[in-house]
Amino acid sequence: MYQDLQGKVAVITGSSRGIGRSIAERLAKEGMQVVVNYHSNSEEAQEVINYIQDQGGQAIAQQGDVSLEDDVQSLLRTALHEFGRLDLWVNNAGVENYQPTERMSLNEWQKVIDINLNGLFLGSMAAIRHFLKNNQYGNVINISSVHERIPWPGFTNYAVSKSGAKMFTKTIALEYSKRKIRVNAIAPGAIDTPINAEKLADATSQQETIDLIPMARIGKTQEVAAAAAWLASQESSYVTGETIFVDGGMTLYPSFAEGKG
Ligand code: BGC
Repeated sequence: MYQDLQGKVAVITGSSRGIGRSIAERLAKEGMQVVVNYHSNSEEAQEVINYIQDQGGQAIAQQGDVSLEDDVQSLLRTALHEFGRLDLWVNNAGVENYQPTERMSLNEWQKVIDINLNGLFLGSMAAIRHFLKNNQYGNVINISSVHERIPWPGFTNYAVSKSGAKMFTKTIALEYSKRKIRVNAIAPGAIDTPINAEKLADATSQQETIDLIPMARIGKTQEVAAAAAWLASQESSYVTGETIFVDGGMTLYPSFAEGKG
């Protein structure tokens, strides 16, 4: 447990399911009050709220599209109105969609960039402007991907958005390093989430994914949430501009495992 998180407030985008949900649940368990942002499924979001409240935590759901500035502002307002402060903003909402690049329309390109990258900018800046105005400690965590490093054919827009997330994280970490604000990223590998449900339901494609992972298993959302809790806490007080890979070794060039090369 990270005692310093007690009574602090976090906004977690895209937290009605998957990795975002586990982060919201974990931070609430650490004593944070959390704003659970969702895009379209209010029932799922309500389930998360009920779960957190049943465990004795505090949480509120707020609809919003992270690529729209007004919606992002209303997330900040909800945190301040309901819980009276903001300490942490987690940019988790993201989308991916397979499409070979020569067939990708500008709209398909744009949608992923809007949510995964513009959303990161809008969320981080809403939080950082608030931290600066209050001259307070502030923390931003961006959920990136192993594809901030690994090229991913068929997902060009996604890989570009995630490598952008990496440099965005580093640049604003540097920009606000003297202002008591830390900015870090987490790069998950293949995790058991709704985004991967179809791929993991099929035995062959599940095995193909596992073959890319030195630890030979799919990751759990809770394993990503554990890294988020550490980055949120003062235990990581000297860490900024960093990406933590939570990927079972996926970025370690698994094809070199047997000493080949
Ligand atoms: C994607 C997953 C994929 C994983 C490893 C993640 O960023 O969301 O769909 O399985 O990277 O390739």
